[in-house]
Amino acid sequence: MVSPFDVLQIDSGADEEEIAQAYRQRVKEAHPDQGGSISEFQRVQTAYAKLEGDYSVEDHGSESVDEFDPQREKSRIEYLNYEILDDHGWSHTDEDLFEKAAAVDLDPADYGEFLAQPHESLLEAAENRGFVWPYACRGGACANCAVGVVEGELEMPVNTILPPAMIERGIRLSCNGMPVTAEMKVIYNIKHLPELDELRLPPRPFEQAHAND
Ligand code: FES
Repeated sequence: MVSPFDVLQIDSGADEEEIAQAYRQRVKEAHPDQGGSISEFQRVQTAYAKLEGDYSVEDHGSESVDEFDPQREKSRIEYLNYEILDDHGWSHTDEDLFEKAAAVDLDPADYGEFLAQPHESLLEAAENRGFVWPYACRGGACANCAVGVVEGELEMPVNTILPPAMIERGIRLSCNGMPVTAEMKVIYNIKHLPELDELRLPPRPFEQAHAND
């Protein structure tokens, strides 16, 4: 995996301010409107999330999950696309799934990290960083935006669709699910799980367009 320092084009000894400066510069260069590309833009975002997250872990030392304040603090999200698991012979139930994903060079759209700001739902956080994650109703009434939570917790104010057995298995809705732990590992696109077939709505037009890309 390419070092986040290399992506931001800075020395591995850079301090927090130098990292922030490099990020501001690189994110402009990588923006699709400035001659960059979506994948490069996401790569820069992921690199910064990794480094900024490392600083916040250092700052907070061994702070426990109970001390995390989702009203004020960012949550670091490590994500993986359910749709690519088959291609690699992986299963969503593999205990070392994220370790395996980190060990290969995956597209930033499929695997990486970003920081969710306080008050952002998981879906909003992904979209605000340029990712295209699935959804339909955005109101807690379908399984299109479902994610599998492997580590951490998403608190859902509304859920009229997921039965208790799914909740028990770690399935959550990303459109209204708010990260309430400092670190999360989630599998998105898990709407393709056969058990969720009947709980899905037709996708939104943009998602259909994206599928035809
Ligand atoms: S998009 Fe329908 S519940 Fe999230």
